[in-house]
Amino acid sequence: MSGAHENTVSELKIRPLHPALGAEVTGVDLARPLSPEIFEAIHQAWMQHLVLIFPRQAISDAQQIDFARQFGDLEVHHQDIIRSKSAPEIFSVSNVDDDGKLMDPGHKSVAQISLAQRWHTDSSFRPVPSMGSILHGLEVTAEGGQTWFTNMYNAFDALSEDQRQKIDGRKARHDFGHMATLAPIKPLSASEREAMPPVWQPMVRRHPVTGRKSLFISPIYNNAVEGMADNDAIALIAELAEFAGSDAFVYRHIWSADDIVMWDNRCTMHQVTPYDLGVRRVMHRATVMGDGPVIAG
Ligand code: SIN
Repeated sequence: MSGAHENTVSELKIRPLHPALGAEVTGVDLARPLSPEIFEAIHQAWMQHLVLIFPRQAISDAQQIDFARQFGDLEVHHQDIIRSKSAPEIFSVSNVDDDGKLMDPGHKSVAQISLAQRWHTDSSFRPVPSMGSILHGLEVTAEGGQTWFTNMYNAFDALSEDQRQKIDGRKARHDFGHMATLAPIKPLSASEREAMPPVWQPMVRRHPVTGRKSLFISPIYNNAVEGMADNDAIALIAELAEFAGSDAFVYRHIWSADDIVMWDNRCTMHQVTPYDLGVRRVMHRATVMGDGPVIAG
């Protein structure tokens, strides 16, 4: 959209993309400031659809940061391999380095971002996990590299009685270091581990805005569940992740360049489908901090 005129609420169009979650938002230029009315309309749509797609938004990192800051303070990643050199609030979820060079598939950061090919929710390993993420697809792949999102409210509502009993009142451990056991990457350094000690979070959470309950797991970080042997805990998390990834709960996003996709980490998980690591995929993420500890459901 050209930046030739002011954003107005009357031009904003919200088109649902899937019965479970996901809506396309057009008629707004994210390079320009949002009036309180437009911000409110976008926020409402976000709470209703959980994932919003803004097509054709060729914005700069600075404009992406300004847009994201309207929702809350932004996280700065604790690892320099993920944090962009030019804008610390940007996480580079890319196989291309800060100088624009394609990295070797064995490079530590490529191996680490490839773990996003499993279901997770961003920053669940922080004492206050992220509220939401805003991802700009700068260079996207023609094959693979789709991002799939699942509605964790619906997954929770559809759990069997047996599954509910296993998670009710229980906490799962979210450990950033668990990733290193899932991919051929070096174990984290002492300082990386110290920066992010494991945290325990309720497996059922209540959304601070909608009040709805959802299932809260993040399989790339979960390595224990209270009161369970570790093997049983890992098996339970895998079972819940498979269930949450059922077709009925999932919207599959096929990227076009300059899509901005924004999701609510408090009630969704996402994963990327495999793609050829020899093909450039450049994605810049701004991650909005949560505004308080997880509320047990
Ligand atoms: C992420 O997991 O935050 C990145 C998703 C993607 O690369 O599509």
